[in-house]
Amino acid sequence: MVLLSETPPPDFTMRNALFLAIVCFIADAASETPPTHYGVLVFPAFQLLDVFGPVDVLYGHSIFHQKNLTLSVISRTLSPVSTVPLTMNTTFGASITPTHMLSSPPSTLEVLIVPGGLGTRAPDLEAEIQFIRTVFPSLRYLIAVCTGNALVARAGLLDGKKATGNKASWAWLTTHGNGKVHWVAQARWVRSSEKIWSTSGVSAGVDGTLNFMETIYGSDNATHLENAMEWTRVTDPDQDEFAAIWGAKDVLPME
Ligand SMILES: *[C@@H]1O[C@H](CO)[C@@H](O)[C@H](O)[C@H]1NC(C)=O
Ligand SMILES: *[C@@H]1O[C@H](CO)[C@@H](O)[C@H](O)[C@H]1NC(C)=O
Ligand SMILES: *[C@@H]1O[C@H](CO)[C@@H](O)[C@H](O)[C@H]1NC(C)=O
Repeated sequence: MVLLSETPPPDFTMRNALFLAIVCFIADAASETPPTHYGVLVFPAFQLLDVFGPVDVLYGHSIFHQKNLTLSVISRTLSPVSTVPLTMNTTFGASITPTHMLSSPPSTLEVLIVPGGLGTRAPDLEAEIQFIRTVFPSLRYLIAVCTGNALVARAGLLDGKKATGNKASWAWLTTHGNGKVHWVAQARWVRSSEKIWSTSGVSAGVDGTLNFMETIYGSDNATHLENAMEWTRVTDPDQDEFAAIWGAKDVLPME
């Protein structure tokens, strides 16, 4: 019986080093591949700009920088989903047609956008909340806009984290999250974690998404999109005049 020497033979070391180098190269390449599959969750009475602001940023990106992007629109059924709030005695609004149902979402989804809107006050949103909770572990990123943060909080994904949302709905929004969320009032957006961008109300979704773009795809792409959209962008996440206007104050987690 031959005992293994302390130092393995040179060819063994070489093979290992080569193998390791290949593994590292593959791992690096994989982690640097930019996301291509985006999804947006929609429900009745979603807020138009919460969806189409971020999607329009990605739309520009898909035209100018990265043509292989996919957008999935995910909802309870495949019927068109209207922004009209049925509780408000109005018929004014527009609809979007889903591509996928909550019960059979695309399997390769990488980034999910969760919008807000009056529909986040609906009494039965368990299917949407369950979907967010279930899909989250397989996502690379999640962007929560406006009162969409209430749904993400109800899914438990903001527990022990900072988040923000619409200042006009602050008192209502901050009741969500079981007292485990630090709701930051003075914020255009908050990085709740490596994976989560939490943005303030409606238009802030665009600034949050442009910050996401800058982080993931680089500042040149983000600046190019901002200029193409003629968007006066807020680049400081703490720059927010609306907390003062609406008298919104931080809500800390309970002990
Ligand atoms: C999509 O395009 C980007 C940049 O154009 C590229 O880096 C990436 O590898 C492509 N991804 C896929 C899945 O084709
Ligand atoms: C809804 O609006 C219409 C038209 O303005 C009005 O006639 C009607 O009384 C309203 N209904 C309710 C329940 O407020
Ligand atoms: C966008 O980013 C890609 C990848 O880094 C780069 O090749 C391209 O030049 C950028 N385009 C603009 C307009 O910033």
